[in-house]
Amino acid sequence: MIFTMNTPVVESVLDEQRRFAPSAEFAAAARVRAADLEALRTQAAADPEAFWAGLARAELGWRKLFTRTLDATEAPNFRWFVDGELNVSWNCLDVHLAERGHKTAILFEGEPGDRRCLTYRELHGEVCRFANAMKARGIGRGDRVVIYMPMVPEAVVAMQACARIGAIHSVVFGGFSAISLKERIEDAGARCLITADGGHRGGNVVELKAAADKALADGCDTIDTVFVLRRTGAPIQMRVDRDVWWHDAIALQADDCAPDWVDAEHPLFLLYTSGSTGRPKGIQHASAGYLLGAKLTSRWVFDLRDDDVFWCTADVGWVTGHSYVAYGPLAAGATIVMYEGAPTFPDGGRFWSICERLGVTIFYTAPTAIRALMKLGDDLPAQYDLSKLRLLGSVGEPINPEAWMWYHRVIGRERCPIVDTWWQTETGAIMIAPLPGVTSTKPGSCTQPLPGVFADIVDEDGHSVTTPEAGGYLVIRKPWPSMLRTIWGDNARYLATYWEKFQQRFYVAGDSAHRDRDGFFWIMGRIDDVLNVAGHRLGTMEIESALVAHPRIAEAAVVGRPHEIKGESVFAYVVCRGARPVGDEAASLTRELRAWVTEQLGAIAKPDDIRYTDNLPKTRSGKIMRRLLRAVARGEAITQDISTLENPAIIDQLRG
Ligand code: WT7
Repeated sequence: MIFTMNTPVVESVLDEQRRFAPSAEFAAAARVRAADLEALRTQAAADPEAFWAGLARAELGWRKLFTRTLDATEAPNFRWFVDGELNVSWNCLDVHLAERGHKTAILFEGEPGDRRCLTYRELHGEVCRFANAMKARGIGRGDRVVIYMPMVPEAVVAMQACARIGAIHSVVFGGFSAISLKERIEDAGARCLITADGGHRGGNVVELKAAADKALADGCDTIDTVFVLRRTGAPIQMRVDRDVWWHDAIALQADDCAPDWVDAEHPLFLLYTSGSTGRPKGIQHASAGYLLGAKLTSRWVFDLRDDDVFWCTADVGWVTGHSYVAYGPLAAGATIVMYEGAPTFPDGGRFWSICERLGVTIFYTAPTAIRALMKLGDDLPAQYDLSKLRLLGSVGEPINPEAWMWYHRVIGRERCPIVDTWWQTETGAIMIAPLPGVTSTKPGSCTQPLPGVFADIVDEDGHSVTTPEAGGYLVIRKPWPSMLRTIWGDNARYLATYWEKFQQRFYVAGDSAHRDRDGFFWIMGRIDDVLNVAGHRLGTMEIESALVAHPRIAEAAVVGRPHEIKGESVFAYVVCRGARPVGDEAASLTRELRAWVTEQLGAIAKPDDIRYTDNLPKTRSGKIMRRLLRAVARGEAITQDISTLENPAIIDQLRG
């Protein structure tokens, strides 16, 4: 697909004609049927505020019911259900105790093969005990708590315990480096860190406590307590005045803890995500609106029923693991699966063996995982009984039709609808997705906005693009309850990033998209300098800064390059101090730089390609010509005007 923002009409080379309607059987039993969807859409269109108010009253348990639905006095810092009071953890746990106390909440499998099962009552008890342990250390409402843990039930316990006492959690993905952890702790001003000795991943031990120690060694002065879960049993250092073992901390705590009733707008969590410039942004979500979005979409899009076993494979370090592991499905009273390790350990059949063994009925994962497993062939999944599966989901990046068809045929056995769900850390919950009992799907399209979501595609002037197949900016025209509230500590950046482009008239997602003749949305990718590597956002600036921090590097420019499995891979052009390295020297510097970026940011940001050049192509005004660099990285012909290029001879060097 060729696409530039200045060309209004996009040439859609992807002419997908296949359509898959839900089976009559699925449609008949679905939670949301055609008539329900129609009614929801009609209500939402007629009076969006009344629509959300009705859902918030029906779906959430309130300590004090709100009387005002949407407060736009400080728009675009919208506020929802402002004078209501509730507790998110109460809404995920206590609410089920009477009727579903003995129902399984979490089915856990560790990478080494250990298994645990927690009922709602047991989960409630664990959350309360840990909440009490935090309170005993003086942690309470409004305090920031950073969570740096493996994918074990205690990660969810920690998040829920924060919600219970009104503390604001910020989960940092366990794959991020000590330096990234430190940066997030400092930005959030956290006073507590919850970690583990380590976790299991791909047959190795990820040493989380060692990384945490490194992060805390210099700076992070706000941290006064570190809780450490024993997971791997590997030896670690404990600092007596600061570090507490999880099991010691909860040993004498009661398994009941009264929830702290907070305002609807009380921040529930921060989650850092990459932006196009500078440091990561702490996306701030509010309690009630977020929970409403996570719960409703869990039920609408995943059609959750009481006997379902729901597995979202995302780590809790990403928003998907917040909304569809830790909050949404629990609020909906579902049984969820958590798996600690890599999809390919001990072999590429692990996901399918878990589906068989735990009886997974709904499976939600990312295109990058689907592509990686697809490459391993059809034989592995064929060895497992996947007959319990009834619904499949995809998230994180556009899914290519080939991977979609494989997912449909080999995993879904041509029986399961696929929900391709578009959303973002900022949106809190799924925004554009099929309703599996109603919407006919097309491979590669996330189909249509959910009721109450006013998504549109606009051109450079902010006018709605009505020509089918013509691309533009994906925007949301009206506020929605689970939207981000601000960027932690930087409201100016919130306004600049999401609202200024079109004078605050609508939320700008940062993606380009087009709509087909049926009004179906097709996401085309990011419009800013953000890469999507394996379904995760990486800012080119962050990687560039990491590279330039290396003593040998003078200048760096990073672009994305299409990658068979990861979607996009990191391609870096670097200018060295001193002579441009060649041959063995270049190879060894490349190894060093890859390790360096891993250390600075984490392995996901590691460049796949590094190319050395004497200087970077710049316009006369000094701007790096990124489009040119992208074209070179992709091996494409250079079509843009290079007459402004300061040193045209550089092109050959860039080509390598
Ligand atoms: C960006 C958000 C939302 C959870 C995972 C990523 C891309 C997400 C889709 C999809 C096409 C998608 C967009 C979006 N994206 N889902 N179904 N089809 N693109 O969360 O890190 O906040 O990234 O991921 O580019 O803006 P995130």
